Amino acid sequence: MTEARPCVLLVDDEPRTLELLGAVLEHQGFQTSLAATPQAAIELLRTLRFDAVVTDVVFDGYAEGSLVLAAARDLQPRAIILLMTGYPKIEGAVSAIKAGALDYIQKPVDGIMLGTFLERALKEREIERPNLVFKDLIEILSAMVANTIERVDPYTAGHGSRTRKYCRFLAEKLGLERERTEHLELAAIAHDYGKIYLDDLGFLTKKGPLTEAEFQAVQRHPQLGAKKLGHHSQLAEVRRFVAEHHEKWDGTGYPNRLAGDAIALESRILCVVEVFDSLATKRSYKDIWPLAKVQAYFTEQRGKAFDPLVLDPFLAMLERDGERWMRAPAEDLRAAGLALEA
Ligand SMILES: [Fe+2]
Repeated sequence: MTEARPCVLLVDDEPRTLELLGAVLEHQGFQTSLAATPQAAIELLRTLRFDAVVTDVVFDGYAEGSLVLAAARDLQPRAIILLMTGYPKIEGAVSAIKAGALDYIQKPVDGIMLGTFLERALKEREIERPNLVFKDLIEILSAMVANTIERVDPYTAGHGSRTRKYCRFLAEKLGLERERTEHLELAAIAHDYGKIYLDDLGFLTKKGPLTEAEFQAVQRHPQLGAKKLGHHSQLAEVRRFVAEHHEKWDGTGYPNRLAGDAIALESRILCVVEVFDSLATKRSYKDIWPLAKVQAYFTEQRGKAFDPLVLDPFLAMLERDGERWMRAPAEDLRAAGLALEA
């Protein structure tokens, strides 16, 4: 939390909800302003400065939350915007996020949870602040991923943090210096963040293979993700690795069909590791591959999709740790309270 108390505008047509949420947020250190109508909220947006706007979507049967959302975007572009609704749907979350809301939460809203969410969201906004150290960036990016992409597709829970861990091991084995390894770790956490900005998030949890059109759309996620990491100078390399994580050694990857050394070494590491963890994970469209099948696939793709310089030490690591790493995704899902069966 910063020196000054963060200012939150709460908008809801139920007086009890407003008062209760306001009181709980005040107790947690926020300064709150309350508005019972979109018009009152817009008036406040014109006169006061807010760090966050939390608004109901439906007022007296009309979906006027979008008016507040548009006004907040226009008048206070730096504010975090959160929508509350009684009708939670992934589609709703997606359109809210695209319209500029940070997220979409289901009513009744728990004040303590809301406060926690706002604190985390305010932290995410800090990504543009100067002088962030590695630990801050890890925390911010982890929260961004857990709060978005891993919530839309819960089967990816822990994918970013596992990818980070294996990337670090492989980078150490390849003798990468510390700063490069840290940038790689940040990219590993955030590599799929761009998926939250795809036009149709239904792809992410679709059972069965994607159509050609869907696959074309999904191919935008590396560049979308890189773009959404902001302009922080410390993240320049990270943005590059995120953008390149689906490029392949032989030039058959996407989005730019880069080949060989034109792809950063860190991106080549991320590519191998990320594919491994995806194969070790149950997804909506595929089961977990057995370790032997994963190893056979990597061996067959040596010098094709994957750089041998990176792949060979990774295969050696799989000989030693592969069985344990294959169990990690299911363990992370259980820890997240999710069963393995779809
Ligand atoms: Fe990806």
